[in-house]
Amino acid sequence: MRTWSFRGVPRLKIIGGSGGRLLATLVATKLGMKASETEIRRFPDGEKYIRINEDLAGQDVVIIQSIHHQPDELLFEYLLLCDTANDLGAKKVIAVLPYFAYARQDSRFNPGEVVSFRTVTKLIEDVGTSELFSVDMHQHRVERASDLFRIPVHNLTASALLAEYVKANLSLQKPIVIGPDEESEQWASTAAKVIGGDHDVLEKKRLSPDTVEIETRSLAVNGRDVLLVDDIISTGGTIVEASKLLKKQGARRVIVACTHPILAHDALAKIYESGVEVVVGTDTVPSPVSYVSVAPLIADAIKKL
Ligand code: R5P
Repeated sequence: MRTWSFRGVPRLKIIGGSGGRLLATLVATKLGMKASETEIRRFPDGEKYIRINEDLAGQDVVIIQSIHHQPDELLFEYLLLCDTANDLGAKKVIAVLPYFAYARQDSRFNPGEVVSFRTVTKLIEDVGTSELFSVDMHQHRVERASDLFRIPVHNLTASALLAEYVKANLSLQKPIVIGPDEESEQWASTAAKVIGGDHDVLEKKRLSPDTVEIETRSLAVNGRDVLLVDDIISTGGTIVEASKLLKKQGARRVIVACTHPILAHDALAKIYESGVEVVVGTDTVPSPVSYVSVAPLIADAIKKL
C-alpha cells in the first residue's frame, strides 16, 4: 500500500497555483503540513514568472490548480508548474484540478470545431503529470473520466458534502432532489440518500451556449421543498428554466446546490429572480455562494495515495 507519509514525515509537497492557493493551504492544514512557497508573477512584458521555493527532489508533488474564470492562463500556469516540478527532481507530479475547464467541449458538435478537452488532456499528460484528481469533472458523453486519459484519473464528487450542508442548514420539508438533465442523476441520487428523500431528473436540450429548453412533464414536487442539483452553473440558464418549471408545479421552496459555481455575468441574480431561495456551491470556484469546501475531500484522497 502506498502512503503519503513515512513515520509521520510527509513524503509529499503541496503547491497551489493562482487558481488553487487557498485550497492548497486548506488541504495542507488538514494533512498537518504547510503548502510550499511559490512565487508567481509577471515579467514586465506580460509573460509569467514562476519560482518554487522548495526542494522537490524525490518527493511526490501535488499541484492544486482549479482552472476557472481565466482558464487559458491557469492551465498554462499548471503546465509551467508541473514541468518545473519534474525538472526539479519530483518523483511524481499529481495534478489536483478541482474545476476542469474545457471538459464540456469534448466533441466536435459542429464541423470544424476544436475538441478542446482532447487537446487539454494531451497537454496535461505530455508535460509529465503522473496522476490526476478532479471534482465532478464534466463527463456527460462517457461513463468514466478514466476512459479519456492515459494516466490514472480520480473523479471525486462533492454531492454528499453539498447535501450534508443543505441538510444541516436549510431544514427541508418533504424533500425531493431534482437534477436538471439525465447526467445529473448521479448527483441527485447521492444527495437524496443524504437528505433522505426521493429523486428525479428532467430532460434538457441545449439550444445555444446560453439557452436551454427543459421538457415539461409532471413531477412529484407540489408542496415539497426541492433541492435542485447540478455540477456547473455557468450562465444560470439551466437552473433558471428548471426552477421556473418546479415553481409552476407547486414546489414550496427551491434550493440549488452545485459543485462549480462559475456564475458567469449576472447568473446569480437571474437565478434568485427565478424564485430560487438559496444557492450553495463549493470552493472549487471561489464565489459568493461557495459555502462548502472540498478541502476535506481532496485531503482524504491524498491520504490514500
Ligand atoms: C451541462 O450539461 C452541465 O451539467 C450544466 O447543466 C451546465 O453546464 C450549466 O450551464 P448553464 O448554467 O450555462 O446553463
